[in-house]
Amino acid sequence: MSERPILVLDEGTTSTRAMLYAPDGRRLGMAQADLSQYYPRPGWVEHDAAEIWDRTLACARDMVALAGGADRVAAIGITNQRETVVAWDRRTGEPLAPAIVWQDRRTADHCAALREAGKEEAIQRRTGLVIDPYFSATKMRWLLDHAPAVAAAGSALAFGTVESWLMWKLTGGLHVSDASNASRTQLMALDAADWDRGLCDLFGVPPHALPEIVDNIGPFGETQDQWFGRPIPIRGLMGDQQAATIGQACLTPGDAKATLGTGAFVLAHMGSSVPVSRHRLLGTLLCRLPGETSYALEGSLFVAGSLIQWLRDELRLIATAEESEAMARSVPDSGGVAMLPALAGLGAPHWRADARGAIHGLTLGTKRAHIVRAALESLSHQLHDLAGAFAADGMPWRALCIDGGMSANDWIAQDLADILQLRVDRPADVETTARGAAMLAAVGAGLFPSLAEAAGAMGAERRSFAPALPDDVRGERLGRWQALLASA
Ligand code: G3P
Repeated sequence: MSERPILVLDEGTTSTRAMLYAPDGRRLGMAQADLSQYYPRPGWVEHDAAEIWDRTLACARDMVALAGGADRVAAIGITNQRETVVAWDRRTGEPLAPAIVWQDRRTADHCAALREAGKEEAIQRRTGLVIDPYFSATKMRWLLDHAPAVAAAGSALAFGTVESWLMWKLTGGLHVSDASNASRTQLMALDAADWDRGLCDLFGVPPHALPEIVDNIGPFGETQDQWFGRPIPIRGLMGDQQAATIGQACLTPGDAKATLGTGAFVLAHMGSSVPVSRHRLLGTLLCRLPGETSYALEGSLFVAGSLIQWLRDELRLIATAEESEAMARSVPDSGGVAMLPALAGLGAPHWRADARGAIHGLTLGTKRAHIVRAALESLSHQLHDLAGAFAADGMPWRALCIDGGMSANDWIAQDLADILQLRVDRPADVETTARGAAMLAAVGAGLFPSLAEAAGAMGAERRSFAPALPDDVRGERLGRWQALLASA
């Protein structure tokens, strides 16, 4: 390897990965480990923060070895599942409770009480976020109320989202969170990009437990020698959906991307104006650099790839996720079957924490392929609802850049173009989240003067999908979807 590569740590919901990127954008290697998912009660989702760290370190070590040692790595970029809360003890550096994952619905009652108390409008104006168990603040409060070790930790308590936890472990005690991740806690004032004292009081989260908010490109410290033999500088930090937006080179206002991972997340670049949605979308921080902050409008869907996983692991209708494409193609339509994929409630723009999934329209003639096809179709239907909300908020999509594991499915890419009636672009490498983190770290390491230049050098080629579905078929599908939604 001539030029020193960037090491990316991409800590997702179902797996953790380490990847090496050359400064010309080539991916040189990847190590991956699955993360255990714990579902202790209906609607609850937990991770083991110690496992997240152990597996991240193991994957990172593989890639450092591939690079030829820590001295051969130019910098680290970290990107992560957002909102998930880790609580740890500053004295020991060990977790105090299971991490509560973004998909977890246990704080639905707390959220309902806040809404009933009339707090939503003020909270949305301050944070850009609607009230929902998705965000970190009510999860932190829950831990303080229900996890004895968290309640007893006092000044030793440290809260953080996953990048914060990894930073603490890698550096041996730096307690920071980047502004994109912090904007998902519901404790950060979006315009100031700083913790809001009033919100901390409202949610009952002690500010002393929170990390310092930093930019997305740094120097943010170095890894401790014990992990890789020699220190490696950490230069990029960003939540995975924002990183995918950067990785897709959505760098100008109006650019929109959808990442189809465990969930599906659409972000549209909004420039430097703080977005406040009037149609149940989220205003979020996209990227904070010295003297320059950009924002995005976001539509979050809680279930996308996790639905395919569920079809595979629980219903056992498919043996592999890839098989879903051939199965969807094996039938001309869904045979009248429609699916409401509310397996973790419904996210934007409906925000129904109580909604549950449903499969409608079954007959004795229903085949496995019909159900699988209905599941894939439900993604386009949900994105169609999001497209309407973005347009109503004054940010219609001109085209949609897709990425994430599920976007490799050609049938899905075409179905999205058909239902959205829009050009859908897909890069040759769909791991855009990691590419975005590599771009941030490359700029931080001084390899490029700006993200635009990093995108020019490190971006991937794209393939486009154009709409082709007859209007009547599209109308019929959307009609069935609306009826199903109304019954939820
Ligand atoms: O907001 C949750 C999101 O960051 C999770 O991303 O890639 O695990 O679906 P992913």
